[in-house]
Amino acid sequence: MMDFSLMIHGGAGAIRDPQRYEASLRAIVESGANLLAAGSSALDAVVHCVALLEDDPLFNAGRGSVLNADGEVLCDASVMDGRTLKAGAVAAIRGVKNPARLAYEVMEHSGHVLLVGEGAERFARARRLAFEGEDYFKTQERVAQLAKAKRKREIALDHSGAGDGKYGTVGAVARDRNGDLAAATSTGGVVNQLSGRVGDSPIIGAGTFADNASCAVSCTGVGEDFIRVSLARTASFFVEFRAMQAEEAAREAIRYLVAKVNGQGGLIVVDRQGRCGQAHSTPGMLTAQFAGGVARVDAT
Ligand code: GLY
Repeated sequence: MMDFSLMIHGGAGAIRDPQRYEASLRAIVESGANLLAAGSSALDAVVHCVALLEDDPLFNAGRGSVLNADGEVLCDASVMDGRTLKAGAVAAIRGVKNPARLAYEVMEHSGHVLLVGEGAERFARARRLAFEGEDYFKTQERVAQLAKAKRKREIALDHSGAGDGKYGTVGAVARDRNGDLAAATSTGGVVNQLSGRVGDSPIIGAGTFADNASCAVSCTGVGEDFIRVSLARTASFFVEFRAMQAEEAAREAIRYLVAKVNGQGGLIVVDRQGRCGQAHSTPGMLTAQFAGGVARVDAT
């Protein structure tokens, strides 16, 4: 039986206080690794890790998401199964505690790939997913961040101008002991975004992609840039058709993002051999990986 690999991210940018995130990233990657060690699928492991990142108010997803121009939290998420190429995603949803779990339900039980807004929330109720009130999602830090963005009249790209210089979004990629790959991504979007704006995170091929023939990918950064160049799919193309390994494909994908649209952000990749890679065009990125039996956190 093969070994397993897992990588998670908590956003990219100019991370002012990286040590603030280290303990969470380590605990979450170890928790996911324990599942994979016990024989869980890559799919279950990535949804588990992203749900834990959503529960942690430090990260821009689920609880602690950034606020839009109306002062609301609207979340996006997606998941993809590399074994079947099935995918599920949700966008602009309110009140669902774990958007990544709803994306999984969409994939498994709706017959669709992407559900948005009220329809997605109705589906979440039908699937008996947990809901939380507004106060659960809105932290004081995010309220202050929105006020600052409004004073400066800017749509801050996640945490950039109005915050700590970090582009939010969380994600996970994994290869399980059967050699199956999966990816999941979740976000609250960007600070002070127009209500109804959707970034790359719920767009399969832009923010998330997984295919057993190549790799699993989760992205973070300025969503508009990632959508315009289909970045997650582009990274997988480099693995499948140009025989690159995870690290090289990640670096090449970022070169492509910058060359084509001067894009800001990063991505994590696990390839079908279980090699992990990451790259970013921002000064830093929060990642943690568990490969070859060892957990490593990289918060720069
Ligand atoms: N990358 C997250 C977003 O742009 O919404």
